[in-house]
Amino acid sequence: MSRIVYVNGEYLPEEEAKVSVFDRGFLFADGVYEVTSVLGGKLIDFEGHKIRLQRSLNELDMPAPEAMDDLLEIHRELVTKNEIEDGLVYLQITRGAPSDRDFAFPGPDVKPTLVLFTQNKPGLATAPLAKVGIKVISVEDIRWGRRDIKTVQLLYPSMGKMMAKKAGADDAWMIEDGFVTEGTSNNAYIVKGNKIITRALSNDILHGITRAAVLRFAREAQMEVEERNFTIEEAKEADEAFITSASMFVMPVVSVDGVTLGDGTPGNVAPRLREIYLDESLKTAI
Ligand code: PDD
Repeated sequence: MSRIVYVNGEYLPEEEAKVSVFDRGFLFADGVYEVTSVLGGKLIDFEGHKIRLQRSLNELDMPAPEAMDDLLEIHRELVTKNEIEDGLVYLQITRGAPSDRDFAFPGPDVKPTLVLFTQNKPGLATAPLAKVGIKVISVEDIRWGRRDIKTVQLLYPSMGKMMAKKAGADDAWMIEDGFVTEGTSNNAYIVKGNKIITRALSNDILHGITRAAVLRFAREAQMEVEERNFTIEEAKEADEAFITSASMFVMPVVSVDGVTLGDGTPGNVAPRLREIYLDESLKTAI
């Protein structure tokens, strides 16, 4: 079955959906995006994603599309039309398509491009990988300095994933000045004793929506959280590690640069946090 996608006000079969070759998202990666998970046909943390989307637009001085107030309705419509029980909704806004290629931003006559599509992922919350955990390698973080803005400049994260794959691992953690910033498409954590350690928010990392929820739930469950930089050496000596994102929720990490963590199983903290996160998020899903 072909998907129904949304492009600038229209719901279309994916084969009929088109964006201009002059679109600035295509030519300059001049676009921002969000990924919202869907469980049981409902959106997880929609409001958080919407707030971060507006922030990304503001930081780049990018106009919001006219449909900004209808985003919830559009998400829901796509979930319904594509019969998504478990999966993801991808949203992208670009600075639109001027009549020619030009580094300077276009004037107000050029309207932003708004695209949304769904990804069907049956059993997303019960992914078998969560039972065994993932392996990560470290790579240098050579991305730009505004990683807090969720832009579509994802070439280096894609390269990081490929470096991980080549090394027989699942993902890469990026290192800057000796400290872990984040995963290619997720936030990174280690557990030492019973303390959860993760880098503090700044322009160096994306302010994960899952991160915010997980840290809130951890504190509510009286777990100790420390927001500070940690090195890859510290990660290798950690009792546990994990990542968070809208598509992976809380995913245990069992190996860092080939070094097995603890007894090589997901441990106690990450699986417990995953369970709490899924339970609590489902309660507020819309
Ligand atoms: N990635 N850090 C980076 C670099 C990310 O790309 C993401 C999300 C996160 C986690 O953010 P959140 O919890 O809001 O999903 C952290 C999405 C899932 C993606 O690119 O597919």
